[in-house]
Amino acid sequence: MDRQELPVAVFDSGLGGLSVLRALRRVLPQERFVFFGDSANAPYGSRLTEEIRSLTLTALENMDRTYGCKAIVVACNTATSAAIQALRQRYCDRPVIGIEPALKPAADRHPGEQILVMATETTLREAKFAHLMQTYAGRAQVVPLPCPGLVEFVERGELDSPALADYLQTRLASYPAPAALVLGCTHYPFVRPVLQRLRPDTEILDGSDGTARETRRRLQEAGLLREAGPGEVLLTNSSPDPAKKALAELLLSLPEAE
Ligand code: DGL
Repeated sequence: MDRQELPVAVFDSGLGGLSVLRALRRVLPQERFVFFGDSANAPYGSRLTEEIRSLTLTALENMDRTYGCKAIVVACNTATSAAIQALRQRYCDRPVIGIEPALKPAADRHPGEQILVMATETTLREAKFAHLMQTYAGRAQVVPLPCPGLVEFVERGELDSPALADYLQTRLASYPAPAALVLGCTHYPFVRPVLQRLRPDTEILDGSDGTARETRRRLQEAGLLREAGPGEVLLTNSSPDPAKKALAELLLSLPEAE
């Protein structure tokens, strides 16, 4: 089989990476994608770095063995922080694309203003984020906001409920009017409508479009773009719960926000 015909592996600790897969499908409609969500082991965000790295490497090894893949998209900020270097060493023969909080566009659009970065505890404590902070802290007031427990709302399909609104209200209580909210975890775009209701004047950004464009650029550069469609998506998950599959399909097919 031509390498161009092989799928792109898209990986997340759970269902959040579907927010990135949605963007990938928009930007690369002719590609084949295999998505693996490690919901049986989610959340990764409160695990040790070494454990996250090992789960991520094992999951991608299985994906590559089962499907073969021409490129890897780590659709998880947490796994990117913990494992991107190891993955790039292991898969140096193909593009490996990670995701990071969209601090650059936020700082460009809101110089000097308050920017909240919502993410998992791991993402915010790793060196990758410290480096991002160092780069942009002088340009805006960047405030890291860990959100333990938020991934679980999305994993159980609770995308809009009084309990979720209460949770978010509590996290945001000290920040009545940030200029921007950066969603530094791929699960969080699925609760964006609730966030926007709580902070109607705040711009909300996430890294999914940037990651999808970077994937297209890297595939093109490597001569790996699939020329003709139709595109395909295969959804897989480590959880034996059949409700996960139904939820994954629902998340993938939610209407686009305007
Ligand atoms: N989607 C993952 C991220 O982008 C969530 C990590 C978790 O499982 O805690 O960080």
